[in-house]
Amino acid sequence: MSTVIQIAYLVASVLFIIGIKYLGKTKDARRGNILSAVGMLIAIVATMLTIEVVTFMEIFICILIGSVIGLYYATKVPMTKIPEMVALFNGFGGLASFAVGLSDYFLKSSTSLESLDAVNLTSIILSVLIGGVTFTGSMIAYLKLDGKVSGQPITFSGQHLLNLVLLIAFIAASVFVFLDPTNLTLILILVVISLLLGILTVIPIGGADMPVVISLLNSYSGMAACATGFILNNNVLIVAGSLVGASGIILTQIMCKAMNRSLTNVLLGGFGQTVATGGQEGPAVVIKEIGVEETAMLFDSASSVIVVPGYGMAVAQAQHVIRELMEQCEKRNIDFRFAIHPVAGRMPGHMNVLLAEANISYDKLIEMEAINDDFSNTDLVFVVGANDVVNPAARTNPQSPIFGMPILNADKAKTVIVSKRSMGKGYAGIENELFGYPNCLMLFGDAKQTITKVVGEMKEMS
Ligand code: TAP
Repeated sequence: MSTVIQIAYLVASVLFIIGIKYLGKTKDARRGNILSAVGMLIAIVATMLTIEVVTFMEIFICILIGSVIGLYYATKVPMTKIPEMVALFNGFGGLASFAVGLSDYFLKSSTSLESLDAVNLTSIILSVLIGGVTFTGSMIAYLKLDGKVSGQPITFSGQHLLNLVLLIAFIAASVFVFLDPTNLTLILILVVISLLLGILTVIPIGGADMPVVISLLNSYSGMAACATGFILNNNVLIVAGSLVGASGIILTQIMCKAMNRSLTNVLLGGFGQTVATGGQEGPAVVIKEIGVEETAMLFDSASSVIVVPGYGMAVAQAQHVIRELMEQCEKRNIDFRFAIHPVAGRMPGHMNVLLAEANISYDKLIEMEAINDDFSNTDLVFVVGANDVVNPAARTNPQSPIFGMPILNADKAKTVIVSKRSMGKGYAGIENELFGYPNCLMLFGDAKQTITKVVGEMKEMS
């Protein structure tokens, strides 16, 4: 039986790896998801066959409760709240590893002390540390993102020193656990420090840097699962945990690059304060407004259009009407593409998902690096609910909090039309100098409503 289970775990691991590979290309992503889900099903069935401590009924009841809660949230949560949901997922993943680590410790310390060898103790300690940090860190991230506590960085002097002291205390207590594995006070110290470290490393982070933290915590939850795999001697958990841990770190690095943050800053915590400080106010700018009819005329006379979607498009749910706009343009043989910034919206891939939902084909969605040189040869750039990702201050103003962040070169086009409701700021809370550029026209109003009117005008023209 144990050979069959190990083979099942191997098959599940291979399916996870192939599944992740498919996720790298948008058109194969659905297949990747299905393969990984089949892998997970195989892993669950194989694990069920090795049940030792609890009964099938207990497991069934837990699955039922978890599924009902999961289904409720997955169907209820709006697209704009996905980062909060991911934070909760990560947190509960960390909590599970934390709980498994502790229960394994209590089980072995009371029944078979000799099985608490160095490998086992190391795995338990790592599970408690990474699981605890992931749990409380993710809960703080959730509360910040959901606005239940201030999203601004919370800092105090000596913060990094305190984190360092706590880490050293954790290592010291761990060493003593090896010398005296039955000492409950030491275990309690490890538990308290790990929970505290999660809170302390996330509170100093805020503003636009939060998604990087979410991705990093996602990676931590994978590492915690990996440590739990060593405790339970479960190969599939080790493989799956490593995959989540590694992919989370890679995503963190990609996001750091896109937001111009260094990974070292993320790991040390305490970054993001720049967002709340000076450099926001640029010189007074003269804004030029454009109406729906003139917008339709500009589209009608263009030969190339690039749409830059942003968070506001998600809020307005304007993706379907943008597809209609695309159809109108394509009828006129206008070259019509989308420029996708890696952190447009509020989560990785946010824009891709929304545009795909509106049946806009993937080959129209062009990544920043591939399209950035084309803006200068483009007649019309239509910025829909995007702000920070087209702010030229990232290139021109060293005082700006987003200076150095790679942006879409929308300002280089012949004409730029920006669809937004007001002169409101974006996520980074700073002015956008593009809105005052001579080639920039503001189309004020909710994106869905105004674009619907533009499409109506274009239909009348044809
Ligand atoms: P933002 O800079 O956040 O700007 C969004 C704009 O949409 C706002 O200026 C707002 O202006 C406009 N808007 C809101 N509702 C609208 C509606 N109904 N119709 C039309 N416009 C509307 O968006 P972005 O350019 O996509 O940049 C993303 C920002 O979020 C970056 O700073 C990024 O670092 C950060 N961030 C990204 C992620 C990821 S991973 N994607 C996660 C968290 C944070 P009005 O109020 O005037 O309408």
